Amino acid sequence: MRHMLNPLDFSVEEIDRLLSLASDIEHNLPKYAHVCDGKKLATLFYEPSTRTRLSFESAMLSLGGSVLGFSSADSSSAAKGESVSDTIRTISCYADIAAMRHPKEGSALVASQASSIPVINAGDGGHQHPTQTLTDLMTIRSLNGKLNNMTIGLCGDLKFGRTVHSLINAMVRYPDIRFVLIAPDELRIPSYIREDVLKANKVEFKEVNNLDEAMPELDILYMTRVQKERFFNEEDYIRLKDCYILDKKKMKLARENMYVLHPLPRVNEISTEVDSDPRAAYFKQVQYGVYVRMALIMTLLEVEKPC
Ligand code: NCD
Repeated sequence: MRHMLNPLDFSVEEIDRLLSLASDIEHNLPKYAHVCDGKKLATLFYEPSTRTRLSFESAMLSLGGSVLGFSSADSSSAAKGESVSDTIRTISCYADIAAMRHPKEGSALVASQASSIPVINAGDGGHQHPTQTLTDLMTIRSLNGKLNNMTIGLCGDLKFGRTVHSLINAMVRYPDIRFVLIAPDELRIPSYIREDVLKANKVEFKEVNNLDEAMPELDILYMTRVQKERFFNEEDYIRLKDCYILDKKKMKLARENMYVLHPLPRVNEISTEVDSDPRAAYFKQVQYGVYVRMALIMTLLEVEKPC
């Protein structure tokens, strides 16, 4: 039995296969309508979510399966003090696969150790968010036709942004990837990513504060929200929350073929005037999120691809 806790749980070849399956699903959706008939997905969400939870549910329903679950810790027995391990042992009796989001780093790993069904990490605190990364990879591959040889700018809250951590983990395995890490000093990338992932893999990267200066060299700009819920102090959040705002004026500095991605939700960091720019790809990204989750559910449940 396999889980998806970190993008590195899948080799580059397995991710390639998964993205190809997701792309086949995109183009032949009706063919997949019954491949998970009779299977159940449980969504265990201890933290707020719109896209991740609903895209998992939509994915399972589109495969012919059913869904059950909870969308806040308050409405589960966590409010009575139940441990994640006991909850997942229980859920293992009700469902065939589970997607879990939890505010504590490492919680999905803990759940997987007590689980008798595959566990998908749908975000564990400021740590990892592998299914967002699969979404990002599918988006980049579909728009750029490749996953190698490009400069990716990651902008905003690189400290607490788990989507950024997972994306870096996944992308360092492709050839000729360069990163420009654009963040205020307080929200720089954590040292374990800088040392153990970027430097250890000899990946070219630089850390800068200025978005305007970085714009002309980017193939992808990945914007992120300042992660309010992970701050200890409201004053710091207020001071940093609008540190970068992507607007039309900044987009003029970018290449014609640079794409803007964002895991969403957006707060102020991308002005709505950018939405009509053909390079704004963040709502396409949402659609790809359903296809990759369909492909992931099929892969973890070992469901055969229909002919
Ligand atoms: C992200 C998350 O939860 O980490 N959202 C998502 O799943 N698309 C990003 C965020 O909340 O900023």
